[in-house]
Amino acid sequence: MHDIYYFVSGPMVWISFIIFIGGSIYKLINLIILVSKKEKFIFSYMSWRYSIRSILHWITPFATENWRRNPILTIVTFLFHICLIFVPIFLLSHIILLDDSWDISWWSLPESLADVLTIFVIGGCIFFLLRRLILPEVRFVTSASDFVILAIVAAPFITGFFAYHQWFGYKVFIILHIITGEIMLMAIPFTRLSHMLFSPFTRAYMGSEFGGIRHAKDW
Ligand code: HEM
Ligand code: HEM
Repeated sequence: MHDIYYFVSGPMVWISFIIFIGGSIYKLINLIILVSKKEKFIFSYMSWRYSIRSILHWITPFATENWRRNPILTIVTFLFHICLIFVPIFLLSHIILLDDSWDISWWSLPESLADVLTIFVIGGCIFFLLRRLILPEVRFVTSASDFVILAIVAAPFITGFFAYHQWFGYKVFIILHIITGEIMLMAIPFTRLSHMLFSPFTRAYMGSEFGGIRHAKDW
């Protein structure tokens, strides 16, 4: 068990971050190359003004028609994403690890709050799961990979929560936690989780086309 722990908390952390960051850069460069080859004309109407307008508008809860149409989904989506990104970055346990190895640290969330926000992320995953199982119109466009992606995102939060509370053997859950966290990071560039990388570009493109060509709002 010791050897596994040292591997996953040492070299494997490096490998997973290199794949996450390298894979993300590769995917973004690939996107730009693909657009230049196939649809170069898009560059001629991309506009900073309409791009930023569209991005700001869509990251404001309830600002768009679509967000207003599904209020519960909107609240869950925003809460889920805010907690998902905020918790791992501002978690005391993570910052302590960084401080120990590299002497860098920053502000951290109070531990009891981080614990509650972790439950929000797990709850969000359960909500998305039920939505996919229950609503016929969502079920229709759901495939097995959607469930795998939900599991990849939920796993580090569930195992981190168990490890923090030291339920059912700390050692096992901390190892599972680190492995599932690494899997999630490595999956981001290569699965639908890459929407994290691509969504600003999708919005910029839609915003520019609707603003500059159709002279309409994209909402
Ligand atoms: C990549 C290597 C990672 C390492 C070495 C690591 C390490 C740890 C450690 C030591 C804990 C605390 C357990 C305790 O209190 O003793 C923890 C908790 C946690 N980690 Fe990670 N982690 C990693 C990745 C991630 C990722 C990618 C995520 C989420 C995206 C994540 C989310 C969490 C959460 C939600 C908790 C529990 C918070 C709570 O309920 O209080 N971790 N992690
Ligand atoms: C930071 C930029 C990100 C943006 C702008 C973004 C945006 C979105 C949007 C618009 C949805 C659709 C929600 C709906 O139907 O109402 C979504 C769903 C989702 N996102 Fe993100 N996201 C981001 C990052 C991430 C990251 C880093 C992860 C996990 C690693 C993630 C995991 C998910 C999951 C699991 C879903 C639900 C999938 C389902 O419907 O089953 N997102 N995201």
